[in-house]
Amino acid sequence: ISWNEVVFSLAKDVERAVMPLFGKPEGGREVGKNVSGDVTKYVDKVAEDIVVKRLEPLGINIVSEEIGLVDQGSDLTAVVDPIDGSYNFSSGIPIFAFSFALFKGKKPVYSAIYEFLLGNYYEAIPGNGAYLNGRRIHVVPREPEKAAISFYTRGVGVSIIERVKRIRVLGAIAVELAYLARGSLQAAVDVRNYVRPTDVLAGALLVREAGGIVVDENGKEFDPALSAEDKMNIIASSDERLLELILEEV
Ligand code: IPD
Ligand code: CA
Ligand code: CA
Repeated sequence: ISWNEVVFSLAKDVERAVMPLFGKPEGGREVGKNVSGDVTKYVDKVAEDIVVKRLEPLGINIVSEEIGLVDQGSDLTAVVDPIDGSYNFSSGIPIFAFSFALFKGKKPVYSAIYEFLLGNYYEAIPGNGAYLNGRRIHVVPREPEKAAISFYTRGVGVSIIERVKRIRVLGAIAVELAYLARGSLQAAVDVRNYVRPTDVLAGALLVREAGGIVVDENGKEFDPALSAEDKMNIIASSDERLLELILEEV
């Protein structure tokens, strides 16, 4: 299987189905609760139904944000967030994306993030780099006092905001990790104990393949189970120096 073709066409299918709902209250209508206890919006359901319908016949396991694990007894597992940033989507804020990460056992095989409105397709190929629309991308470190970071907190480490130049909180962590990977941000940090592997696994692989570092709040390698339920912290940085500063504060 050529995963880049399969996943790109899946992202396009999701895009076609959901974009008519962009910014419409209908897309934000609550249709249930997901496996992590969060609400499922109508748009989440529309997007996930397409993902499951396309991936199930491939016989692989699926871990997706709303339904959780579809275990088909395969050694391959796709960890998917069909639409990350669904509040933004239904509120007409143009920052949201499709996020997909494939593992063989626990080893990453491929990941992709697709920003619908811009047509930006990010890919990570383990050991072979990170790409945006086929072109190699890299993190771009800056001095902490010049850095732009995305930072989600409920109070932990707020002093970080005095030590960097810019804070951006965009509301779609997959997109923020992609922006870090391509050099638009220098870090993406969420210390609310709130993100799930489905939100961040594709982005974490992308950041690493772009030369960045991804750890937990203790500075240990970020290596969560392939789950849609577990909640955790993530600290992703373009470089060691900024990472040290963030870890000092959180
Ligand atoms: C959310 C977004 C958001 C993050 C939340 C996630 P969803 O995902 O990634 O940026 O702060 O933790 O739940 O629910 O829109 O797929
Ligand atoms: Ca998400
Ligand atoms: Ca989602």
